[in-house]
Amino acid sequence: MYQKREIADKVFYVGVNDRQKHLFENYLPLPHGVSYNSYLIVDEKVALLDTVDLSFSDHFISQIESLLNGRPVDFLVVHHMEPDHAGSIRLLKTRYPQMKLVGNKKTFDFLKGYFNIDADLIEVAEGDSLSLGKKKLVFYMAPMVHWPEVMVSYEPESQTLFSADAFGTFGALNGSCFDDELNLDFFWDEMRRYYACIVGKFGMPVQNALKKLSALPIKTICSLHGPVWRAQLEKVVALYDRWSRYETEPGVVIPFGSMYGNTQTLAEAVAEGVVAGGLQNVVIHNVSKTDASFILADIFKYNGLIVGSPTYMGEAYPLVDALLTKIKERGVKHHVYSCFGSYSWATGAVKRMTEFAEAMKWEVVGAPVDNKFAPTEDALQKCFQLGKEVAQACLKMKE
Ligand code: FEO
Repeated sequence: MYQKREIADKVFYVGVNDRQKHLFENYLPLPHGVSYNSYLIVDEKVALLDTVDLSFSDHFISQIESLLNGRPVDFLVVHHMEPDHAGSIRLLKTRYPQMKLVGNKKTFDFLKGYFNIDADLIEVAEGDSLSLGKKKLVFYMAPMVHWPEVMVSYEPESQTLFSADAFGTFGALNGSCFDDELNLDFFWDEMRRYYACIVGKFGMPVQNALKKLSALPIKTICSLHGPVWRAQLEKVVALYDRWSRYETEPGVVIPFGSMYGNTQTLAEAVAEGVVAGGLQNVVIHNVSKTDASFILADIFKYNGLIVGSPTYMGEAYPLVDALLTKIKERGVKHHVYSCFGSYSWATGAVKRMTEFAEAMKWEVVGAPVDNKFAPTEDALQKCFQLGKEVAQACLKMKE
């Protein structure tokens, strides 16, 4: 017996929760799980909007069958081809052989490449619509949010937007798919982490999509991950707008690597300087304990970043280096930046962290501290001063 989750007249939620995987895309931790959302429109024609990860296809198909009472699926609309959503396409096509697949030209390249499917296709382009009877879907292309074939669709009668990954979040759905029936406490941080890690590189394409969709009256957003947004709609659109403009608030993230505690001691002094500089928003992350995805989420929130690293084989500590690469990959902008480090016989980490700033076109604020052996009183004072200067620059940036 499945609970009918009716989003609007004839529109149903048929997604699944993944509480099994530890790592999304095999590298991003899922402490709260994740949902793969799919939607079914049951009109004169039946349209299924996206599928789910193949591991959950049994539960997925059972939900569809219980709503359809033997009717076939006429159309499968493919908004996005990443396998967390496209994974059950081949199985669905076997279950409903007459089903037509609806996508754009790029979708069909992926469909052929992944599943060797090149028949029963209906190609749509910007502004095209697909009639289902009383309802219809109108298609809008959203390339690079966050793959090239991504499109969204709009159902005018219920004013529902099917937004692909956009407005998605990590976190499985605990007892309901609707935002107003869920405790959303952990979703806001998880939504920012999802954005930072998955979509963060693509600020401009997100802005383009938001501009395009702003003309539509929207009552409900159905993303491919996380809650169906209807009560918090304005908030989620505003968050996406903010993040895709790389807007931040005053605060400092201090990620550090430390093998034996010396760089950590410097980090503590930096943080004390930040607070003395007038900022309470200071987050210290040990890169060996905290997964980089959580650090990235904080970097997308705050406008200050001070990175600490010991020199390791003449370079930055490997996990610090990996974090810097992830920041660079995402094209993060507008940060007040500095760095500090320690070494025992040859330096190198501070050089790497300074070159990183040059590559990002960020100004280095204050004098980076590079301390030999255990932290000296002089080095701790300099770290304190560095934190203070960065905090003041963060506050000034927002004036
Ligand atoms: Fe949720 Fe880009 O797949």
